[in-house]
Amino acid sequence: MRRNIVAGNWKMNNTLDEGLNLIKDINVNAKKTDVKGVQVIVATPFIHLAKAVEEAISPVRIAAQNCASEESGAYTGEVSAKMIRSTGTEYVIIGHSERRAYYGETDEILTKKVDQAIANKLYPIFCIGEVLDDRENDKHFEVVENQLKNALFHLSEKDFGRVILAYEPVWAIGTGKTASPEQAQEMHAFIRKVVAEKYNDKIADEVSILYGGSMKPANAKELVSQADVDGGLIGGASLNADDFFGIITAF
Ligand code: G3P
Repeated sequence: MRRNIVAGNWKMNNTLDEGLNLIKDINVNAKKTDVKGVQVIVATPFIHLAKAVEEAISPVRIAAQNCASEESGAYTGEVSAKMIRSTGTEYVIIGHSERRAYYGETDEILTKKVDQAIANKLYPIFCIGEVLDDRENDKHFEVVENQLKNALFHLSEKDFGRVILAYEPVWAIGTGKTASPEQAQEMHAFIRKVVAEKYNDKIADEVSILYGGSMKPANAKELVSQADVDGGLIGGASLNADDFFGIITAF
């Protein structure tokens, strides 16, 4: 179901105590803020998940930032979707550009991760987005379409309905070079068109498509006011509760 969603991605930040203190700060903001139906999600490192689920108050929901591509077994250091779900976590980020770039996560691996997430009743927040070279060579639409097709379009309509999409132009992540509202809207509308062509208009209209890449309180309003931008996937600004809620209240 399409919703306005703001998801914070802490990435590899916060010790256990720092993370739980940030959850407490987020709770303080949640208590005093009318979020107008916006779904608030916080994606913590694995070490925080169980306690964050216990501590977070409505409307805050907890996400993992990754899950294993296998169900269980001899995969030292990995954390399965089943284990993540057992903490009470409901969402999982899959396919973040940093996982693709630094850890070699291919479309094949991401397909398995999506399947594991859905099989274990998690909601995948699936990341897509082009690097600067793709955009400068006018290949950004082709890249994003292939990312969708190669890891998601095997899903049934029902299973695709569990997916949240996050368009994150890699050149905007952590750089302060936010995509313009026009650039974001153009790509989000394209993504919705590609989904409609694969499935149908109803499925396409119901999928939430978030923007990620240097979204801040100062630019959030002009981004989320775009017709096909349903919210944000927030990195740096999610590490401060006031900044995070400065984005949530932009709707
Ligand atoms: O997953 C969200 C992240 O990639 C965006 O990071 O710091 O540009 O908001 P940031």
